[in-house]
Amino acid sequence: MTRVFSGIKPTGHLTLGNYLGAVRRWAEVEQYETEALFCVVDLHALTVEHDPARVRRLSRQAASLLLAAGLDPALCTVFVQSHVDEHTRLSYLLECTATDGELRRMIQYKEKSARARVSGDGVRFSLLSYPVLMAADILAYRADEVPVGDDQTQHVELTRDLAVRFNQRYGHTFTVPKATRPPVAARVMDLQDPLSKMGKSHEAGAGIVYLLDDADVVRKKIMRAVTDSGREVAYDREDRPGVANLLEILAACENGDPGELAGAYESYGALKKDTAEAVVELLRPLRKRHAALAADPGYVDGVLREGAERARGMARPVVDSAYRAMGLLPVG
Ligand code: TYM
Repeated sequence: MTRVFSGIKPTGHLTLGNYLGAVRRWAEVEQYETEALFCVVDLHALTVEHDPARVRRLSRQAASLLLAAGLDPALCTVFVQSHVDEHTRLSYLLECTATDGELRRMIQYKEKSARARVSGDGVRFSLLSYPVLMAADILAYRADEVPVGDDQTQHVELTRDLAVRFNQRYGHTFTVPKATRPPVAARVMDLQDPLSKMGKSHEAGAGIVYLLDDADVVRKKIMRAVTDSGREVAYDREDRPGVANLLEILAACENGDPGELAGAYESYGALKKDTAEAVVELLRPLRKRHAALAADPGYVDGVLREGAERARGMARPVVDSAYRAMGLLPVG
């Protein structure tokens, strides 16, 4: 059976981008069709300026939202990265496989390190090595597929390179994984700045729909979305990025096609109104289930405990064999 691994970082409240680009597919498809592991990757949240109490809160909230989105612990494994030591154990071996040059080429490193420099925070060394830890997340489980949004493609490519290199040098140890992406909405853009990705770590919230936003807030944000100077509703990501983004969001909600939907609208206002209602309806059941789960943290903790146990059992033999392959002396 195909094995799938994917993760989400607790650096902010989960967004519509996270949901449409990744989480929704995990819940609607992957957990039924594959052997799937989904992870709240909390160690990754430490690569930028962070508040410990907030990371803790956001980690539990992310786990609750994954369950609220429909992940069923009877069908898939849901856990927190720092509960399974194999991720950091393997990460070091992969640091000894990756090169400085290939890590400095990562787009997210370039963007985030530039931001950190501007704000005077200093660039944490872990921001550079971050994709290596991500590779370890994936390779420790010998995952075949990694369902992610567009922005993670480059990191999965690096993971593939590291797996191939390691296997060639030290003997076949890892499965070479591939990224999979949703048919639409693989890159949901910020509603106020349709040239930038809708990202949970961004400061300004007006262009970001959070999964836990009230229905009225969602409506307001979508109705105020920046569109383009034209009038005609056309699907053109280059020249009409704002409208194209709304069409993609609507298409994702309705399992439709953005190009076809464009033909059904004569004004931006009508498109915005329908998109807002579609998103509100899409998120309604999720918000309701989340409220119930938030009231029962003991249940969520239990799911995470069992998930970590299962994950550990899968990762340990793989990481142990990587240790041996690389030349480390086994415990006598
Ligand atoms: P993160 O936490 O930024 O995002 C989680 C998932 O949501 C997708 N996503 C989006 N998709 C479409 N439009 C958007 N605007 C949007 N924003 C986010 C991301 O592509 C991702 O699939 N490095 C990863 C976390 C990670 C990981 C892993 C993922 C760590 N280890 C191993 C897969 C496998 C990240 O920062 O995702």
